Amino acid sequence: MRINLNNLAIDYSDNGSGIPLFLIHGYPLSRALWEPQTAGLADVARVLALDLRGHGGSDPGPGPYSMSVLADDCRGFLDALGIARPVVLGGLSMGGYVAFEFYRKYPQRIAGLILAATRAGADSPEAKANRDKAATTAREKGVGAIVETMLPKILSQRSFQTRPELVTHVREMMASTPLAAVLGDLAAMRDRADSTAMLAQIDKPTLILHGADDQLIPPAEAQAAGAAIPDARLQILPDAGHLLNLEQPEPFNEAVRGFMSSVWG
Ligand code: MLT
Repeated sequence: MRINLNNLAIDYSDNGSGIPLFLIHGYPLSRALWEPQTAGLADVARVLALDLRGHGGSDPGPGPYSMSVLADDCRGFLDALGIARPVVLGGLSMGGYVAFEFYRKYPQRIAGLILAATRAGADSPEAKANRDKAATTAREKGVGAIVETMLPKILSQRSFQTRPELVTHVREMMASTPLAAVLGDLAAMRDRADSTAMLAQIDKPTLILHGADDQLIPPAEAQAAGAAIPDARLQILPDAGHLLNLEQPEPFNEAVRGFMSSVWG
């Protein structure tokens, strides 16, 4: 489905009914990331997933991108769909950075949070420099060069070595992201705010999910967030990397299902 947001065409999916569960994908991905959840959780929630600007089928729009712009797109999306009731907002990795920003700006629109494979902290000076290096690589060698560097790390080593169909699916999803969105995301991630101090103030039920074999963001980040957020439950999924919802869809969905029914069931 497609909606117009301030002259920007945004592609999205909308499955099921009940409390809205709004899922935000990571970098450099699209809402195709959430296919196992849009299919598998529609019996417990109204599962919404959008392509962030420039990703999947959505228009890139003008730059620069920032977490604030992306969070505003998400709010505009909910407004355009007429969803006024608070939603359960789930974000994976960069989608988690957008979720933190959304919480900072619009806490009244959130009923609960799902933070998957993400971290609260800002980029270190070294990480910021690496964003700029990645932007140069993308400009000079194309998005494909970014994809091939990230691919062995975005899945667990085991998934990367033993699941060729999953590797192909993720490669295609990443490679279809245009340069404008890759550059926009890199700048937005580099300049994002530090949300660490906000964790203790989060007053919504929160589910934290992380892959035990995440090679991009260590599980210690999830443990720290779980200890800091007052009403948090933490689950580390075995045999899963950074894209835990794709690598282990059933345990991931089971965790979300349990969270949704214990809080809103
Ligand atoms: C993501 O998966 O969204 C990104 O790899 C996160 C990051 O680079 O910080």
